[in-house]
Amino acid sequence: MNVPFLDLKAQYRQIESEVVPLVTEAMAEGAFIGGDHVTGFEKEFAEFCNTDYCIGVNSGTDALRFALMAAGIGPGDEVITVPNTFIATTEAISQVGATPAFVDIDPNTCNMDPEKVSAFLEQNCKFNQSTNQLINQSTNRQVRALIPVHLYGQPADMDAIQGVTQKYDLAVIEDACQAHGARYKDKAAGSMAAAGCFSFYPGKNLGAYGEGGAVVTQDEKMAAEIRMIRDHGQNKKYFHTMEGYNGRLDAIQAAVLRVKLKRLADWNRSRNDNAAYYNELLDVPGIEFAKVADHAESAYHLYVIMVDDRDALQKFLEDKGIATGLHYPLPLHLQKAYEHLGYKEGDFPVTERAAKLLLSLPMYPELTREQIKYVADSIREFVSKK
Ligand SMILES: Cc1ncc(COP(=O)(O)O)c(C=O)c1O
Repeated sequence: MNVPFLDLKAQYRQIESEVVPLVTEAMAEGAFIGGDHVTGFEKEFAEFCNTDYCIGVNSGTDALRFALMAAGIGPGDEVITVPNTFIATTEAISQVGATPAFVDIDPNTCNMDPEKVSAFLEQNCKFNQSTNQLINQSTNRQVRALIPVHLYGQPADMDAIQGVTQKYDLAVIEDACQAHGARYKDKAAGSMAAAGCFSFYPGKNLGAYGEGGAVVTQDEKMAAEIRMIRDHGQNKKYFHTMEGYNGRLDAIQAAVLRVKLKRLADWNRSRNDNAAYYNELLDVPGIEFAKVADHAESAYHLYVIMVDDRDALQKFLEDKGIATGLHYPLPLHLQKAYEHLGYKEGDFPVTERAAKLLLSLPMYPELTREQIKYVADSIREFVSKK
């Protein structure tokens, strides 16, 4: 049996008859930038996330970058995040001129550990009364913001994190790029902080047919600022309040996303059913899961297990026609790109352990029970031989 890691063709077959006329119509009408599909999608996605505003942008990376800019984060500032995320989270921080500072993850959920945030702020930082600034004493930078990443589709523990950050008046921006439709205590991922950032990269739970992203927020001023930043800093054509970016969501992508958004809740339910079946079949010694906390409803963008001898298991599965992924094999603090930050091996042991053991299994709504059973049986075969 062949089990691909992702099957976008199967999803396309379900929606082809609805998507194709919209795309051809947009081309026939020359409606490529802005227009009804973009504003329509923004309205519908804001409703889906239960926020007042949604601003469509060109990618999840743009969403993060623009949200940071609109929150006033810039050169000299430090932004706290986790080392177990895709590099886009920290690229956005660096590209607004700020510097990432890492805290370790929770071993159960693989998400930001609120206690590590608290320890970082209490042990490394000092509040300067005269300047009203929170300074990281080891770097001398001002700590201004924090980005929890809702990794694998599961929201981070936002109440605990915001309980800590509120004391210090830090801006919190959610990286919800893997968590479309996930919930935390009845709140939608992306709706709980100053801004929530989404990616519509094709493989995401809500994926475009090209690049795309969005910021959702309750803050009117922030929404207006991001709308300006995404469009060369202009409110009115050729009148520029500031330098911005070419960072708009295009109309064809918005049309595709509108078709898919109607099905997202059902697709996420299928992902959860698939995860439950994996959980049942893989509940054997030698296999750990990235657990979903009681407060969370995961969108199951990824289904991740942890096993010793991970690389051998990946090869074993590949030989059986099963494709898997690694999210992520080398933590950000150990990447060459971040050598200049001065971190070393051993700084974030939970992340480093996870990076060695984790394996992402095939996960998508169209996955069949036979495929899941075949994957699980193959893993059990591997684990039992050891
Ligand atoms: C956690 C996380 N943050 C940010 C991004 C960036 O999104 P994009 O690829 O749309 O720029 C991604 C996408 O892969 C992601 O998984």
